[in-house]
Amino acid sequence: MVSMRVGMRRLRLGVLVSGRGTNLQSIIDAIERGDLAAEIAIVISNKKNAPALERARNHGIEALYLNPRNYPGREAYDEALKSELESRNVDLVVLAGYMLVLSPGFVRHFFGRLMNIHPALLPSFPGTHAQAQALARGVKVSGCTVHFVDEGVDTGPIILQAAVPVLEDDTEETLSARILEQEHILYPRAIQLFAEGRLVIEGGRVRILQENIKAR
Ligand code: GRF
Repeated sequence: MVSMRVGMRRLRLGVLVSGRGTNLQSIIDAIERGDLAAEIAIVISNKKNAPALERARNHGIEALYLNPRNYPGREAYDEALKSELESRNVDLVVLAGYMLVLSPGFVRHFFGRLMNIHPALLPSFPGTHAQAQALARGVKVSGCTVHFVDEGVDTGPIILQAAVPVLEDDTEETLSARILEQEHILYPRAIQLFAEGRLVIEGGRVRILQENIKAR
């Protein structure tokens, strides 16, 4: 017997990128393997030649370059982003190596449906060059964090984290590669938890429910 959930549709993702797009690729791969019940409605880049755009197109996903220079400022640009996302009925906005800081209005509008991945164990080492910051501080463990985005830089409620050891002879490259491997596992898992309706923001933290509240 074939069973089907009537009236449910797959979670629609909008992915914002600026660069090589290996996290985007891990999300695409998880969807194609059947490990992530979602579809990517659109990938948008602020960089024309971002390899991430090519990765999307290779999988038949709509990929859009939005040139910031065509807008008078950050707010106008983010308004354009918002309307591209909303016209495609996106449920969750996923930042995957998106290098522009989003305006407060955009963040407020999408709060609770806007996720980021950061290559450190937040709240340690927010901002750019997180792996180099970790090495410079001599921590023995680092990792990655998936979090909801709030108006600060890498300060939003934490969803999932994965740790990796920092080795004596690590360089920024070797540590980054070790962390990246974990990022590619963690991000699809966090999005799947969202798809299952299991993430609840309570103040500054995220509670992960054991079961899907929508299914109750
Ligand atoms: C990753 O290290 C991610 O944690 C950070 O930006 C990088 C993006 O890499 N936010 P990629 O474009 O997904 O390969």
